[in-house]
Amino acid sequence: MIFESHAHYDDDAFDEDRESLLASMPESGIEYVINVGASLKSTASTVELTKKYPFVYGAAGVHPSETAELNEENFKWIKEQCMQPKIVAVGEIGLDYYWEEPEHEVQRIWFERQLDLAREVKKPLIIHSRDAAQETMEILLAKNAKEMGGVIHCYSYSAEMAREYVKLGFYIGIGGVVTFKNGKKMKDVVEAIPIERILLETDSPYLAPEPNRGKRNSSLNLPYIAQKIAEIKNMSYDEVVEITNRNAKELFRIK
Ligand code: NI
Repeated sequence: MIFESHAHYDDDAFDEDRESLLASMPESGIEYVINVGASLKSTASTVELTKKYPFVYGAAGVHPSETAELNEENFKWIKEQCMQPKIVAVGEIGLDYYWEEPEHEVQRIWFERQLDLAREVKKPLIIHSRDAAQETMEILLAKNAKEMGGVIHCYSYSAEMAREYVKLGFYIGIGGVVTFKNGKKMKDVVEAIPIERILLETDSPYLAPEPNRGKRNSSLNLPYIAQKIAEIKNMSYDEVVEITNRNAKELFRIK
């Protein structure tokens, strides 16, 4: 069965049919979902979803674009959420230099603080990194992130950089972009790294794969992504599903 390593079912886009959609996941071949926090609010909603659905696990953390909301007090609260029984990772955290706000210095400070937190609570990392390849790598090296391990989610950099992250012990999250007609760069990435280092993800409700590009995304689209990876790697669909499932269980320590 499929392991969805990155989705945001707390998003407003699911307000109308969240319950029925999530209820349909197990019968549609989705074994587990990691719902990923991206702010204080979505971390709280993530914890709620993990309590409600046996197959939903969660990550607690604040996305770089939301770091302006952090302070010492609510950072303590994030740490408490990391102790919840089904919170299996710290994320999504990182750097997003596509945006000028919040200031890059603010993003960096809270990225480092959340890396220290992950070390303290002994959880793996879910990293969001956009237009900040080199600096993300430097910070992960400086913080010895190899110890925590993690995934570079919605990976968007070069094949060479992917190999560097793999050397650091990280997994690479592959989503809908690999199915896009202009997705050559992601195909090179998938070719460059072993299947044992790939996680399947959607980033729902964003980035729906072909043939549903532009529509609201959900984990039910993961077969299109697995199929594309199977084609690129010249493997069977079942092998891709099985190995990426095992990869995710190993990273998030789910039996
Ligand atoms: Ni995300």
